[in-house]
Amino acid sequence: MAVIPVELAGRAYEVRVGGGLLADLPAQCGKLLRKQRVPIVTDSNVAAHWRDTVQAALVSAGFEPRWMVLEPGEGAKSWAVLEKVMDWLLAEEVERGDHILALGGGVIGDLTGFAAAILKRGCGFIQLPTTLLAQVDSSVGGKTAINTSAGKNLVGAFHQPSLVLADLGALATLPLREMCAGYAEVIKYGILGDTAFFEWCEGHGPAVLAGDAEAQEYAVTESVKAKARIVAEDERETTGKRALLNLGHTFGHSLEAQTGFSDRLLHGEGVALGMVLAARYSARRGYITAADADRVAGAIAAAGLPSAISTLGLNCNGRALADHMLHDKKMDAGTLPFVLLHGIGEAFLDKAVSLDDVAAFLDAELQGS
Ligand code: NAD
Ligand code: GLY
Repeated sequence: MAVIPVELAGRAYEVRVGGGLLADLPAQCGKLLRKQRVPIVTDSNVAAHWRDTVQAALVSAGFEPRWMVLEPGEGAKSWAVLEKVMDWLLAEEVERGDHILALGGGVIGDLTGFAAAILKRGCGFIQLPTTLLAQVDSSVGGKTAINTSAGKNLVGAFHQPSLVLADLGALATLPLREMCAGYAEVIKYGILGDTAFFEWCEGHGPAVLAGDAEAQEYAVTESVKAKARIVAEDERETTGKRALLNLGHTFGHSLEAQTGFSDRLLHGEGVALGMVLAARYSARRGYITAADADRVAGAIAAAGLPSAISTLGLNCNGRALADHMLHDKKMDAGTLPFVLLHGIGEAFLDKAVSLDDVAAFLDAELQGS
């Protein structure tokens, strides 16, 4: 098992990465579980595969698991589901010193984390991420949120978990498409700040996706180390360092918005395409070579991810995609900072990007030219 500390004064915690952590839950959580009743939020897909393991582990140590099983999908990050979860947590008499367990992907982690942030002005929670995306990104760093009709993740809070247990065994039941989507976030750490890790990702994508335990452990551990380092430096995204984690997200969100935040394009797939666009736009601005942009696209394609928006069949022009960006929560006094590249492994924040130029660039990309 690898143990990665997230070093935040007064809110430090560990991310543990390894096999069999869910079956060892009581020992892993130690004193964080201080009452017999343990509230667990999950979704029905995850419950189908992992509820019995978690139930048995907790019961064998004398705990009484209490389950809230939600419908899978992005729809759970809504006011309505949040209200249902809050009412349930209150009925379960969860107190500030208690911990809620979030067993699932980024949807369950974001929703449960936000519920924990606002329940009685803040109680504890433990992330038990079961998707690759959640293990390498969303469970670490304390961003929690729900979506509203105005857009994604627009209502939320920074609220750090007390512990993250990334059980690599959970990835065995994850559909391949979800694995690929999560791998986009793994490659992201290489592209934004670590050339050697990017090279490793170029060579090891197939092994990670095929379930090679050693490759998966390395991919998750290195990703978490990178994220933990950045979060410790810039927890609330104020210095520009954490903003680099949004590489591919501005372009990606506009594609997600255009496809209605649906199964047509998963979040990780949007990020994958977004990173290709960020690289190609960086080449257009003369920051990197076209060959480097092609290399980014090649690594994305080799991981079974979409790498060209011309293949999506989007019925829109570049202006429509750029217009979605106007609602981006990173918009700051009329300026939208873009994460672009000076090279593979050298992301930076460009605050002088014109959305008109982005729209023209996207027109060409939509036509595959
Ligand atoms: P998800 O939570 O919807 O999970 C994807 C699918 O896999 C779901 O159908 C789920 O039921 C299923 N699933 C999960 N674990 C499984 C398992 N082990 N076996 C079988 N099926 C399983 O999606 P996700 O990709 O994990 O997360 C996406 C969400 O994360 C988005 O809402 C995004 O905004 C958010 N996010 C948050 C952060 C952050 O820093 N907080 C970062 C990145 C993404
Ligand atoms: N996923 C972006 C962040 O955590 O900051």
